Amino acid sequence: MSTFAAPPPAHATAAVAARATDLTKVYGEGETRVVALDGVSVEFRRAEYTAIMGPSGSGKSTLMHCMAGLDTVSGGSARIGDTELTNLSDKRLTQLRRDRVGFVFQTFNLLPTLNALENIRLPMDIAGRKPDPAWLEQVIATVGLADRLKHRPAQLSGGQQQRVAVARALAGKPEIIFGDEPTGNLDSRAGAEILGFLRNSVRELGQTVVMVTHDPVAASYAERVIFLADGRIVDDMPDPTAESVLEHMKRYDAKGRTS
Ligand SMILES: Nc1ncnc2c1ncn2[C@@H]1O[C@H](COP(=O)(O)OP(=O)(O)OP(=O)(O)O)[C@@H](O)[C@H]1O
Ligand SMILES: [Mg+2]
Repeated sequence: MSTFAAPPPAHATAAVAARATDLTKVYGEGETRVVALDGVSVEFRRAEYTAIMGPSGSGKSTLMHCMAGLDTVSGGSARIGDTELTNLSDKRLTQLRRDRVGFVFQTFNLLPTLNALENIRLPMDIAGRKPDPAWLEQVIATVGLADRLKHRPAQLSGGQQQRVAVARALAGKPEIIFGDEPTGNLDSRAGAEILGFLRNSVRELGQTVVMVTHDPVAASYAERVIFLADGRIVDDMPDPTAESVLEHMKRYDAKGRTS
């Protein structure tokens, strides 16, 4: 990893990789109306690793989906770089997701009929973009998959499958990578590996990563933790450790119960 030259992601010139301003998201109406995001404003700076935490139902996935252009917003603004997502056509939005954003999900979302290399290259193949061969080789070496490239997902362990998903997200040099509990289905050792790769991609490749997690240890790999509750940001903690995150969760939990 340390021998990596760090080419800047293709579109990345702004200091802020993504930004939400007074973002709201309402699902349903009448009795089923749910305010999933209630005026969220946040910036994700370039080459920063951020964790998003909060109780179940607090809006973590919704925030990520709205900021990544995977879901529409009800109000406010969501930007990737200088591009406002809320008024893009479906076609432009699809292009933006494909060309400028990387995703890692809890369930690895690999195509079962394609081997590891084909899965890694898929977004670029769909876009008709040629991967930078040196870069692709570096990414594959980084995630330790060089000897598994011909294997299909069913022939790989969960941790290996997630490494393929991380390589797929990195391969196109996106401006920002979003992960929704990317280690949620992995044992602690495989999870630690993935978290280490994500952290290296930030430190050594200048990648920007935003990751939802429930796990204080996972959050401690990040440089910053944003805490959500009831669709709002309630805290923004720099330099988290597993202990400080756990303390925060306990404190907030106690406050929630007494108020
Ligand atoms: N498609 C949907 N239709 C209606 N309500 C939804 C939908 N998606 C999410 N919600 C609601 O929005 C709120 C926020 O959901 P969200 O999935 O963002 O929570 P989360 O913080 O990711 O929770 P978890 O930790 O359980 O994944 C919840 O109350 C949820 O029930
Ligand atoms: Mg969620």
